[in-house]
Amino acid sequence: MSETHGTPYPPIPDRPVRWGLLAAGSIAGAMARTVRDTSGGEVVAVAARDGARAASFAQEHEVPRSYGSYAELLADPDVDIVYVSSTHPFHAEQAMASLEAGKHVLVEKPFALTVSDTERVLETARGRGLFAMEAMWTRCQPLVRELVERVRGGALGDVRSFAAAFTVPFAYDEGHRLFDLANGGGALLDIGVYPVTLAHLLLGHPTDVQVLGATVPTGADAQVALQWLTADGAVAQVLCDSRSHGSSRTVVRGTEGWIEVHGPVNDPEGFTLHRGADPDEGEHVTADRRGLAHQVEEVHRCLREGLLESPLVPHADTVAIMTILESARRELGVQYPQEDEPLHT
Ligand SMILES: NC(=O)c1ccc[n+]([C@@H]2O[C@H](COP(=O)([O-])OP(=O)(O)OC[C@H]3O[C@@H](n4cnc5c(N)ncnc54)[C@H](OP(=O)(O)O)[C@@H]3O)[C@@H](O)[C@H]2O)c1
Repeated sequence: MSETHGTPYPPIPDRPVRWGLLAAGSIAGAMARTVRDTSGGEVVAVAARDGARAASFAQEHEVPRSYGSYAELLADPDVDIVYVSSTHPFHAEQAMASLEAGKHVLVEKPFALTVSDTERVLETARGRGLFAMEAMWTRCQPLVRELVERVRGGALGDVRSFAAAFTVPFAYDEGHRLFDLANGGGALLDIGVYPVTLAHLLLGHPTDVQVLGATVPTGADAQVALQWLTADGAVAQVLCDSRSHGSSRTVVRGTEGWIEVHGPVNDPEGFTLHRGADPDEGEHVTADRRGLAHQVEEVHRCLREGLLESPLVPHADTVAIMTILESARRELGVQYPQEDEPLHT
């Protein structure tokens, strides 16, 4: 765990964790349903920029209180943890405001637009003795944990390569958040973050990243292929595309076997571990698969134990993955209007 500079918070061992939802958009609805269906927590309040929309969200999801401003949510003494689920450009400042109000934070992926904002928020959380985590739910899934354990435990011998593709078929619309640069548009930060996370979990950090990609007329990246080499000589290859259909195929190869991961890279259904040459021989592995619930349970566990960060989603990895995404984005010349520094190409 990272060094603590502030006074650590008192753990929450003996009562439900009280969630406040900052923003009332699409993924906030999924979180509200998940917390309701998961033991150990409750959503006590929701805030949106528009009070009427917050109220209607609260009614739909049986949330006791709703606010028409985020400031009111942060002033609510009953909120333990704020779930920041606005679009990416707002994550960093809203997480900072939440921490300054003394709240723990779970921040949607990508944690921020830039590495420097990511570091600033995480350092502030540690400095204040508060819990902070990127909502990288994939890392909390039992199947992914099992996959990582097997690969790190040597089930494949030396890992030599990883390949994954993650595609979602959105029609191009310059106003949609996936394509609107001012609203954090771009395939890399939105969907590329998942296969990059899995590759980083299984292979480790790059010594060198190469990237190819295509942008749409708004300037946002829509299709990106990136590959990297690790210090051990393993190669990761990742493709993300916000405009195409296609199966999400993930393969990890090693000197003594290989694994095919079935289903979406952000929510795999199972994997088959092959040892030796016969592709029909393999051990099929499945696990408990309850979507966002595993992430919610992990947050509850961390707050009950007084942790500043989850060992499943460590701060250092959030920063490392943002660094890969940012270097790939810079290579493509994709710059957000919120970035202070001009691109150095
Ligand atoms: N974990 C996952 O599986 C998952 C899935 C989807 C998305 N996400 C992440 O969650 C975040 C939100 O995604 P979403 O699909 O829920 O998006 P969304 O419904 O389009 O927007 C979420 C909220 O962001 C705020 N917002 C949107 N556009 C804004 C703008 N131009 N200016 C200021 N605020 C704006 C709004 O807050 P108000 O309600 O206050 O108006 C809105 O309700 C993204 O960062 C995304 O990457 C994660």
